[in-house]
Amino acid sequence: MRFEEELRLETDRVNEIIHRYLPAEEGFQRTVNIAMNYSINAGGKRLRPIIMQETYRLFDGHSRIVEPFMAAMEMIHTSSLIHDDLPCMDNDELRRGQKTVWAAFGEDMAVLAGDALLLYAFETAAKAFSLHESPLKIGKAMQVLAEKSGINGMVGGQTLDVEKSGEGLSEEELDYIYVNKTAALLEASMMIGAILADASNEDVRLSGEIARKIGVAFQIRDDILDVTADAETLGKPSFSDEKNNKTTFVSLHGIEAAERRVQELTDEAIHLMQRLTGENRFLTQLFLSLVGREK
Ligand code: IPE
Ligand code: IPE
Ligand code: MG
Ligand code: MG
Ligand code: MG
Repeated sequence: MRFEEELRLETDRVNEIIHRYLPAEEGFQRTVNIAMNYSINAGGKRLRPIIMQETYRLFDGHSRIVEPFMAAMEMIHTSSLIHDDLPCMDNDELRRGQKTVWAAFGEDMAVLAGDALLLYAFETAAKAFSLHESPLKIGKAMQVLAEKSGINGMVGGQTLDVEKSGEGLSEEELDYIYVNKTAALLEASMMIGAILADASNEDVRLSGEIARKIGVAFQIRDDILDVTADAETLGKPSFSDEKNNKTTFVSLHGIEAAERRVQELTDEAIHLMQRLTGENRFLTQLFLSLVGREK
């Protein structure tokens, strides 16, 4: 089967898993449940849960324990997008091809829907405890999920990103932002896949290192697309970074150097994959396909 076809099927299967864990739209608080589902159901590439599942397979995992974690990861990612789009952050009105949550439901509901998804993610991940596998590894996976989402991960990166808007950045600061706001959730995805499949500590560490490179490359590609693609293709506005006076890899080094860096980081990651005790051709192809992604 062609890679594109395989990816499409995999995305459909991941969507089914995510949908199983979404909240019912009922109760006095249903507006927030509706806003949560509105943002998740709009789609998205589902890259993080796909990577988690494929890493789990790479290390020979074959139970459903990974599924609540896949859904949890997509909830956390989506919550980060809802907050990222708020008027006080990037102030964007289009996401995943539809109005952003704040534009559709108001800022109050967008703050609450982001909070709710973040917490519902942990409620969802905890459902793994009912699947009769080692509670220790589930605990470890939840720890990674929390760490990489919070001040030592996504929230940390977003903090510097918004605080330094309109200012110059040192290479060190720029790297901190990319490693944390974006790569951290990809790192967590690969590490959790490895942990749940009982991979060795060294394999978990290597998985994190690989995903960090892929994650930084992913953000640099996002910055390239911000200035080269149109909103219809992206499903989100282009030139958002310029509007917000963001310093990015592209604004600092130009598009060509950025493209070279994406390729370099991807090559390094693919090279490191050979050191893992396991193989996954699909995952390798997926990483390679991200180099030239157009959305
Ligand atoms: C967008 O992530 C935010 C970044 C970290 C660049 P994605 O490009 O994975 O967004 P979706 O999930 O496909 O909408
Ligand atoms: C990544 O940065 C955002 C998150 C970590 C949520 P961007 O602000 O560039 O993401 P997009 O371009 O809005 O998706
Ligand atoms: Mg942002
Ligand atoms: Mg943004
Ligand atoms: Mg962007």
